[in-house]
Amino acid sequence: CGIVGYIGKQSAQEVLVNGLSKLEYRGYDSAGIAVHDGQVIKIRKSVGRLAALESQLENLDATVGIGHTRWATHGRPSHDNAHPHTDESERFIVVHNGIIENYLQLREELQASGHVFTSETDTEVVAHLLEELFDGDLFETVKKVVQKIHGAFALAIMAKDEPGKLIAVREKSPLIVGLGDGENFIASDIPAILEYTRRVYILEDGEMAVLTENDVACYTLDGELVQKEEFNVTWDAVAAEKGGYEHFMLKEIHEQPKAIQDTLTGRISEDGKHVVFNELDWDQNYANSINQIHIVACGTSWHAGLVGKAVIEKLTRIPVNVEIASEYRYADPIVSKDTLIVVITQSGETADTMAALREMKKRGNRVLAITNVVGSSAAREADDVLFTWAGPEISVASTKAYTTQLIVFYLFALFLAEKRNTCDSQTIADIVAALRQLPELAEKSLESAPIVQQFAQQYADKEDAFFIGRGLDFSVSLEGSLKLKEISYIHAEAYAAGELKHGTLALIVEGIPVIALATQTHLLEKTISNIVEVKARDAFVLALAWEDDTQVESTVDEVIRLPRTLDFLAPVVTVIPLQLLAYYASVARGNDVDKPRNLAKSVTVE
Ligand code: G6P
Repeated sequence: CGIVGYIGKQSAQEVLVNGLSKLEYRGYDSAGIAVHDGQVIKIRKSVGRLAALESQLENLDATVGIGHTRWATHGRPSHDNAHPHTDESERFIVVHNGIIENYLQLREELQASGHVFTSETDTEVVAHLLEELFDGDLFETVKKVVQKIHGAFALAIMAKDEPGKLIAVREKSPLIVGLGDGENFIASDIPAILEYTRRVYILEDGEMAVLTENDVACYTLDGELVQKEEFNVTWDAVAAEKGGYEHFMLKEIHEQPKAIQDTLTGRISEDGKHVVFNELDWDQNYANSINQIHIVACGTSWHAGLVGKAVIEKLTRIPVNVEIASEYRYADPIVSKDTLIVVITQSGETADTMAALREMKKRGNRVLAITNVVGSSAAREADDVLFTWAGPEISVASTKAYTTQLIVFYLFALFLAEKRNTCDSQTIADIVAALRQLPELAEKSLESAPIVQQFAQQYADKEDAFFIGRGLDFSVSLEGSLKLKEISYIHAEAYAAGELKHGTLALIVEGIPVIALATQTHLLEKTISNIVEVKARDAFVLALAWEDDTQVESTVDEVIRLPRTLDFLAPVVTVIPLQLLAYYASVARGNDVDKPRNLAKSVTVE
């Protein structure tokens, strides 16, 4: 979900709608705004995209307000469940991200004392609690309310009786305050306000802010004043816009050469032979003490973790587990004090990943976060942070975040290998040299677009597709298959090529598209045998092979030639045609590429 708040001199509805449009990627099944014109509060909401809300807005003539785009958790998408929420008398208006865990109990108590609820949401209890506990002072009342609610919440609050004030509360759900000149902002994410200001306060968990037109004061939830440091956003607002491409996803796919370059920059020594991580002050003793690594993540980040495991194990021989965060956090994982936890999360806010991070920190383990968002919860709470410098990723389907996550894993594995002396210096220098070629090779890999587009158009009406590969090719197959599912809604499965014969082969029938990844030279003969197995069932096979390959082409129907790099680095160039495949299939099927049904960019609920 997304939150925006505004107080100043401009038209609140314009700022709110504009801000929300930059946050729609956080969820978008309904939207709403509430504005205060000094006398009355006007609430407008609508099911569906923000455009639906916009189309029914008249000029509300107000300069204070709060707004929300929703991604349903408690209660289905509906007008009543859309935010803002309010009490019966419409004196207290609330928008909320997160989950209030004890809302059922609170709701019953409030109902018993006469409150009438109009939605199924957990959020509505906050508005009623405000009314119940109001003592003439909004700030004092909010303090009392937040003591009563448990769970994760980012709140923006407005009251009829105090038209010149907004209150923002953050507890385990991201929220920032934007600082303007004679105006101030609340937002769940920076892009929402970037058009208006670059100066922000990043609220910490357990903090709240009181905003007036000319002032922002921050407090702990107990009401103690907190001195915040201003954070200056350096990235460009245009970077968060589509920049000429039809969709954010296509733009982000094409940004990969630059994103890879940015992620490498400053992390390779001047002689080009070593990895430098100024951000990790690890001495040799600590590096040597690590006896096991657990990589924890969700979705595409988890797929990057699979490559990370292979890469770290190969270069350092440290055993690595890759864990799905929602499973890991409840699995009572076996760790020792020498287990390093690596969480990987583009947004730095994914609830399951954050819960795993917190749990492992509580157990005393050192946690390294790999994330794309400076100032995110993961970046702030982990012991160490490595940023992927992909820039803001707007499309729900992750692309450039994945490739930059891979780059960070390569760098990190090399860094550890050097510290632990598990790799000779020539091997390290060779890999570093090959890494430096990757921006250029990613550019070349994008040249596969016309063939991929043609294939996608030809097969867009199929309901099933299969991706096969061995070793690193299997890890990338999983990501390729997820991309296709997410945005084209074609049922896709990735299989370790050698495992196909143990069940899935039964599904291979005439004309089924099979995408075969064949870059791992030491496994090539085996992969080719598996390709032959599906060809024998009349599948249509599109292979991804090296440009200098001489073996794969004759066994398949179509080949995409990949620019040559080390087999070990293949995932970075292989995934690009697969992203394009998903993209063009989605376009061919007329889907909303950047906002696939049922999915959200940043999943801040369990
Ligand atoms: C959502 C997104 C995915 C993403 C996953 C993990 O499901 O739709 O694209 O891979 O969350 O997100 P994170 O920000 O933790 O990498």
